[in-house]
Amino acid sequence: MASGARVVVVGGKGGVGKTSVSAILVRLMLRGGGRLLVIDADPVISVSYTLGEQPAHTLGDFRQGLIESPQRQRDLESRPLKSAIRDLLTGSRRGYDLLAMGRAEGKGCFCGVNEMLRFGIESLCSEYDTVLVDCEAGIEQVNRRALHRIDELVLVADTSLRSMESVIKVRDIAASYNDDNPLGAHVLINKVGGEEDRRRALATATGLRLEIAGFVPEDERVRLYNAQGRTLMELPDDAPSVVALGAFVARIGVAG
Ligand SMILES: Nc1ncnc2c1ncn2[C@@H]1O[C@H](COP(=O)(O)OP(=O)(O)OP(=O)(O)O)[C@@H](O)[C@H]1O
Ligand SMILES: [Mg+2]
Repeated sequence: MASGARVVVVGGKGGVGKTSVSAILVRLMLRGGGRLLVIDADPVISVSYTLGEQPAHTLGDFRQGLIESPQRQRDLESRPLKSAIRDLLTGSRRGYDLLAMGRAEGKGCFCGVNEMLRFGIESLCSEYDTVLVDCEAGIEQVNRRALHRIDELVLVADTSLRSMESVIKVRDIAASYNDDNPLGAHVLINKVGGEEDRRRALATATGLRLEIAGFVPEDERVRLYNAQGRTLMELPDDAPSVVALGAFVARIGVAG
């Protein structure tokens, strides 16, 4: 990938809060004023809705169209691939672009098409300052479908031992895929219920030799907004989750 964009991937076990954290990170990164591309890498579309967007296109549908129509593949030869992928973007009025990956695989192996699309995404990414990727659980499919390189891996766990063990696995997988690129890994413990909960989580993490970059409190409004399908962009600035992630963003310097 051409240099420039800082690729931030949010990963972790299912249900720990990756999408909620991603949406709040987007909101905080926008304060930096840089060019931001958000990649919704969950096949069922996830962070797009949490951000209040309704993407009209997905990369998965585009890919399917290419597989079904050799003519479409030929048409692509006459224009830069990244401009075709740019047509799939949703431009948010809030000042970022969004690419929804959509459905992952049909029947059969289409490695050639996948490889081509990944090349297109990677060249598109070079036009941004920051690329933020919200994954479904695990990150293998991000590597396979979207990007070869990760700069910053935001590993979300909750206070459970299992979720912390998972982030260790995800971190090791990401490192093994990242060739010689340095990987910043930052563990966030989300949905922390209070001081006692935080203390216990820290003890669990210490037992796993896991360094914690930040704690995000259990935030009633995050739960409520998600339950109501309301965008997390409307959380107030003083919501505990926004304040905690604001401090994290300032610390690791991914301000967009
Ligand atoms: N800080 C928080 N405070 C309270 N509830 C939270 C918080 N973060 C996430 N949640 C809740 O946890 C649930 C899972 O959140 P979310 O969808 O963000 O997780 P996920 O890791 O993206 O899940 P998946 O693996 O399905 O993609 C949701 O009900 C959400 O409202
Ligand atoms: Mg999610």
